[in-house]
Amino acid sequence: MPRRLETDLDALSSPGREPRGSDQPGLPEDRTRPLLELHDVSLTYAVRKGSLRAVDPITLNVHQGEFVCVVGPSGCGKTTLLRLIAGFLAPTTGTVIDSGEPVRGPDARRGMVFQQSHLYPWLTVRGNVEFGPRSRRVPRKERRAIADRYLDLVKLTEFADSRVWELSGGMQQRVALARVLANEPHILLMDEPFGALDALTREHMQDELLAIWRNTRPTIVLVTHSVEEAAYLATRILVCSDRPARIIADLEAPFSRGGPSTNGTAQEPRAVKALPEFVAFREEVLRYIWR
Ligand SMILES: Nc1ncnc2c1ncn2[C@@H]1O[C@H](COP(=O)(O)OP(=O)(O)O)[C@@H](O)[C@H]1O
Ligand SMILES: [Mg+2]
Repeated sequence: MPRRLETDLDALSSPGREPRGSDQPGLPEDRTRPLLELHDVSLTYAVRKGSLRAVDPITLNVHQGEFVCVVGPSGCGKTTLLRLIAGFLAPTTGTVIDSGEPVRGPDARRGMVFQQSHLYPWLTVRGNVEFGPRSRRVPRKERRAIADRYLDLVKLTEFADSRVWELSGGMQQRVALARVLANEPHILLMDEPFGALDALTREHMQDELLAIWRNTRPTIVLVTHSVEEAAYLATRILVCSDRPARIIADLEAPFSRGGPSTNGTAQEPRAVKALPEFVAFREEVLRYIWR
């Protein structure tokens, strides 16, 4: 299985993947340009007793359609890294570049899904999903069509007119996902999105997310403390060190694409997770964390 220790290698070693813009009019966009680039991005928080380094300088490229899972010990700086990418935090050093442009703050094109769904309780399910398009003044008919499309995608059509507090935790998290997707983000950032769900719901949610990724190939960066979840969902796993976070391993993961022994066809999820090669891969990732 191909693997690369320390990240940023493709940025440094493969000229075809160097950031290149489509600055020549009429030429199609260079599809090998990374969607997201981190150049020496670090973050030090100011705290009462001085400063706390959460993220060491990280250089990293993410390409269109990748499903990147970030794993690492609790408190190592994963959420901080995601917030830097989202633009909620400004890096202490370095630059985050999205589609060739430096990130200067939050943007709906970088959609963020949190562990808690943070829905608006005074709105219906559809009202929540329509919220983004409505803020962008998308006409009523059009935004309703957008909302219905994403409610269908997360299988909540029949609950469109329900109040969000009438739904289970898993359903609320699906509304949160639809609400972010309704902004048609070009990158989806997810911070432990299934961390508050029970084990069974969590597995169902993984499959729904994987189905969405397989159908529409969005670019996803998902933080999880579950190595099994990462091994199951990712095309690529980034393993972080203890705080301050560094990327100590950058691993290609085959299972979300169908896996080596599945001939590219989707298999029953528990069967995939029980495959000897899946278990071996999961344990290999775990060894980077448990040292
Ligand atoms: N706003 C903040 N101010 C000061 N320290 C913070 C802040 N947010 C997080 N930290 C600290 O930064 C470190 C990394 O936190 P975080 O990124 O949330 O880790 P993780 O998501 O990997 O558990 C922790 O030690 C945490 O206490
Ligand atoms: Mg966190």
